[in-house]
Amino acid sequence: MATSYLCPQDGTRADVSSLTWCCPVCRGPWDLDFEIAAPIRAGALPGRVNSLWRYEEVLPLAAPTTTLGEGRTPLVPLTGTVSAKLDFLMPTLSFKDRGAVMLSELARSLSPARVVADSSGNAGTAVAAYCARAGLPCTVYVPEGTSPKKTEQIRAHGARLEIVPGDREATALAARAAADAPGTFYASHVFNPYFLHGTKTYVYELWEDLGGRLPDAIAVPVGNGTLLLGAALAITELRAQGLIDTRPALIAVQAEAVSPLAEAFRAGAEDLLDGPAGALSPTLAEGIAIPRPPRARAILAAVRESGGTFLTVTEDQIRDAQLDLAARGFYVETTGVACWAAVGGWKDRSVVVPLCGAGLKTGLAA
Ligand SMILES: Cc1ncc(COP(=O)(O)O)c(C=O)c1O
Ligand SMILES: [Zn+2]
Repeated sequence: MATSYLCPQDGTRADVSSLTWCCPVCRGPWDLDFEIAAPIRAGALPGRVNSLWRYEEVLPLAAPTTTLGEGRTPLVPLTGTVSAKLDFLMPTLSFKDRGAVMLSELARSLSPARVVADSSGNAGTAVAAYCARAGLPCTVYVPEGTSPKKTEQIRAHGARLEIVPGDREATALAARAAADAPGTFYASHVFNPYFLHGTKTYVYELWEDLGGRLPDAIAVPVGNGTLLLGAALAITELRAQGLIDTRPALIAVQAEAVSPLAEAFRAGAEDLLDGPAGALSPTLAEGIAIPRPPRARAILAAVRESGGTFLTVTEDQIRDAQLDLAARGFYVETTGVACWAAVGGWKDRSVVVPLCGAGLKTGLAA
């Protein structure tokens, strides 16, 4: 069957060549109805290109000429049971490159008049860089208060920057209004499922580096859940290919200050709780400060199905974790230290934490 967009709520479909960025019936995000070409064979991987494009059988797009060499980040033990995957070493210094390269390549094949994206900083930076590489005109919407180094990087890549007053939600609304203009490709890491087929390579890399298995648990910082849902997708695919026997527990980490998903999970809910989001205070973890993630249902289901859980971290824990990682040699941005803050002390299970954004992007927390 040809790859198509599919709404997980009501079964609506759209062709992947369409610029319809959400389900026209329920306005929710698309899934991708996609069959992998053939099972991956571990023995076939050595000697292939040293980027995420080595997993060609399971990717929905062929390797582009516009690659920046994304993927294949190192896995480094930090304690007897906790290892870190250094996704801050990606081309634009965050894990978002895994998904952004998929979106820019899809956009390139559709030749839109313009590309728009919205972001708390890193996804927009990644989309700006890959659009620059692909020769696509790009506008990135970010909330006021976004780290100045991230906005500087977006501008440096030649994108138009729109700073939106208010929170991340206001930024998303501004971008969605722009995305409805004819001829526009909405490079949304939240709504476009190709992004998740990029972030899933995080887990394929773990699987390859650990000799064909996965750790007991995979910890992931969660705002809109793109790394978490990519990880869940890879785990499902690896099982379907008969390449792993057991599922790792997905440990989803939010900042206590903005933790709508953790609250819903603890309440046993299948979706976000009704009414105004719970405690919404400013947080150092700007990348996961998402009050109403559109893929909430899928995130909650994925964590439950994995046997995992949600953990929250305080601002003090984030500060301490950033300093602690720096003392171990890793300078990581404030969002990217959340998982280390949450599970760094685990001794009974093997767990991998993503150090997924570079420290120079936010500087040291005050
Ligand atoms: C460094 C970092 N970690 C984690 C996240 C969270 O990703 P998501 O919103 O897809 O869950 C972000 C998002 O911007 C980020 O920049
Ligand atoms: Zn729908």
